[in-house]
Amino acid sequence: MWRVKSLDAILATAEKKSLHRSLGPVQLTMLGIGAVIGTGIFVLTATAAQKAGPGMMISFMIAGAVCAVAALCYSELASMVPVAGSAYTYSYAVMGELVAWLVGWALILEYALGASAVAVGWSGHIVGLFDAIGWHIPHALTVGPKVTIGSFLEGGEVGGIINLPAVIITGLVTLLLIIGTKESATVNAVLVAIKVAALSLFVILTVPMITGHMANFQPFTPRGWGNPLGSSGTGVLGAAASIFFAYVGFDAVSTAAEETKNPQRNVPIGLIGSLLICTLFYLLAASGAIGAYGAQPLTGPNGVAYDPGSPEFSAACTAIGAHAPLVCSKEALAYVLREVGHPLFGNIVALAATIALPSVVLLMMYGQTRIFFVMARDGLLPPVLSTVHKRFKTPWIITLVTGVVVAVFAAFLPVGQLADYSNSGTLFAFAAVSLGVMILRFTDPSRARPFRTPLLFIVAPASILGCAVLFMSLDGKSKGLFITWTAIGLLFYFCYGFWKSNVRRGVVDSDALTEGPGGTPM
Ligand code: ALA
Repeated sequence: MWRVKSLDAILATAEKKSLHRSLGPVQLTMLGIGAVIGTGIFVLTATAAQKAGPGMMISFMIAGAVCAVAALCYSELASMVPVAGSAYTYSYAVMGELVAWLVGWALILEYALGASAVAVGWSGHIVGLFDAIGWHIPHALTVGPKVTIGSFLEGGEVGGIINLPAVIITGLVTLLLIIGTKESATVNAVLVAIKVAALSLFVILTVPMITGHMANFQPFTPRGWGNPLGSSGTGVLGAAASIFFAYVGFDAVSTAAEETKNPQRNVPIGLIGSLLICTLFYLLAASGAIGAYGAQPLTGPNGVAYDPGSPEFSAACTAIGAHAPLVCSKEALAYVLREVGHPLFGNIVALAATIALPSVVLLMMYGQTRIFFVMARDGLLPPVLSTVHKRFKTPWIITLVTGVVVAVFAAFLPVGQLADYSNSGTLFAFAAVSLGVMILRFTDPSRARPFRTPLLFIVAPASILGCAVLFMSLDGKSKGLFITWTAIGLLFYFCYGFWKSNVRRGVVDSDALTEGPGGTPM
């Protein structure tokens, strides 16, 4: 189980593809922004406010800083091993099969549940838009039923049945992926422009309102700083652990290292550039929301703030009805604009999110299919999963399985909880990558590194520490789900992957399967 897949074997596979080096720093930055801006800022701002109040501004900074150091570590491996499978593949080459399996297994949480979270975020916006034009989708069809499984899964509301819009968008994206749609650079650029325009509009309208409403920033940290050793997942650190989701997706930049001109210079520009731009927008948008409308947590009759996403919290929000606090909204930014006297602009922001979020679902589900595909190709998952469709040249079985998993979670769980579950997997994978990049400096010091992480032995430990603190700051349910999920993964590995692994059996990757999912540009 400690066997590694040789870097040379992985690179030989990649060389066959030899992609054209065409991307420059601007395209890379756009790629990063396109993959990053999504449900995090448009929706989870409300969740972060319930966890930290105005102090969520610090949460945005903490989460952005952890992402920045992790991104620097990612870049070195991505430029050395520029092949599909990202963190899973890197770990296989450096830390062996068991760690790779655990990382790949955790990435399922990141990508699949992340896609579910964005689908639910999309649902909140389309429901709000329909409401604005007088079409009311029955509440029961916009949220799942109240479910509690063990101490790690809880969601839905009394009276809910299913989040139908989230299921529909997942179905449509699955279909697109099966017929082989990939996002082209042009489509990405248009969507980035739409998202940046929507956030700019929000900032321009709300930031000037801050000066007259400084009282909205008090108390600044109504729920304290949070306790990583506890299970409440609240306070500034708890909100940072949730809002971390808003920065996820930048690995799209590092996986494009193979297609980048002068990656040594351009990959870090793309990564850090897109993270900086996103952080700036997020801080401005968060402060605008606080200044214009206020962002204090909703508290129960006993004066204790509710757990965001809990059935009690939903019930309290429903009881307030119209003009509820920001924390109750499922489309935070659009809601603020509507409430502060800009209903038209609120609807425009909601429309922008409705147009742009499906591409984030697509990118995340695409990432998931890639990882499943590579894991099946390595023999750790049943090979039938990597069957490529004859006509569409896509791994359709895997895509379908991914679609069903994403849809089921999106149908029944609230967005904040899904994002937290997703973050637990992402944080684990980021920490593994940060460790791997340090190990590789010792075990393979002479291999060419198109990008070298600056000050690695400060940056990588900072990334591991940051990921650990954020992971511990998640709520008990998310930590519980991660542990349960990992235990299931270990069981599966020792019953299946350990015996079937291609590396164990000495099987070399076959050409037919090394191409990865095909597809035509959208
Ligand atoms: N960062 C992405 C989002 O916020 C995943 O939707």
